[in-house]
Amino acid sequence: MNHKLLTTERTDIFVQNKELVDKMCFYYKINGTHLSRWEPLRSDDYYSVSEVTKRLDSALNSFEEGQSVQLAALDKNNSAVIAVCNFTNIVRGPFQACFLGYSISKECEGKGYMQEILTVAIEYMFRHLGLHRIMANYIPSNVRSGKLLDKLGFEREGVAKSYLEINGQWADHILTSLIFSSEKITN
Ligand SMILES: CC(C)(COP(=O)(O)OP(=O)(O)OC[C@H]1O[C@@H](n2cnc3c(N)ncnc32)[C@H](O)[C@@H]1OP(=O)(O)O)[C@@H](O)C(=O)NCCC(=O)NCCS
Repeated sequence: MNHKLLTTERTDIFVQNKELVDKMCFYYKINGTHLSRWEPLRSDDYYSVSEVTKRLDSALNSFEEGQSVQLAALDKNNSAVIAVCNFTNIVRGPFQACFLGYSISKECEGKGYMQEILTVAIEYMFRHLGLHRIMANYIPSNVRSGKLLDKLGFEREGVAKSYLEINGQWADHILTSLIFSSEKITN
């Protein structure tokens, strides 16, 4: 499979591209209920093969143009997508920043995979792409997400009222950021 970017002990991480369409569709199919609580409402069409293919194409173009790094982590046999993480809205100039969003398959939750994947992905964003700040925001009731960001070193910066329309409701979000420091990342 093409576009492998990174590896971790238990996963191979690919830039999202249309070769992954069947695996991505399966990921969305088996995780619909698990993910819907934390995502915007989507039309049925959003998860059709043609729409997912379009988004995967666009993710690869966007990566090649330096605008985003949208990743899919697969098991070591490369048989299934187990997690997705998207570094989007890369802004250069004096900001050197982006947003981060992520999710993991329900069956892999609670096993440390997301932290393992994000640790190397974040290192790539800082060391390889030279970014300075990664911003990640979560709904206060999303305790797992808050714990994950905390473990990764993200710091709370405030609360944004009515920040994103999630699952049909405008929801307040806790704003966090991780700022590059050569001391924080080992290897
Ligand atoms: C948010 C989310 C990605 C967090 O995933 P996660 O699996 O909890 O994250 P981690 O990788 O940090 O795993 C933590 C757990 O793994 C355990 N763990 C850590 N290392 C481990 C290892 N090597 N082996 C086994 N377990 C391990 C930890 O003890 C912890 O378990 P616990 O919290 O059940 O006690 C996940 O809940 C999710 O996809 N939610 C739905 C989508 C979502 O909310 N996205 C974010 C929107 S802001």
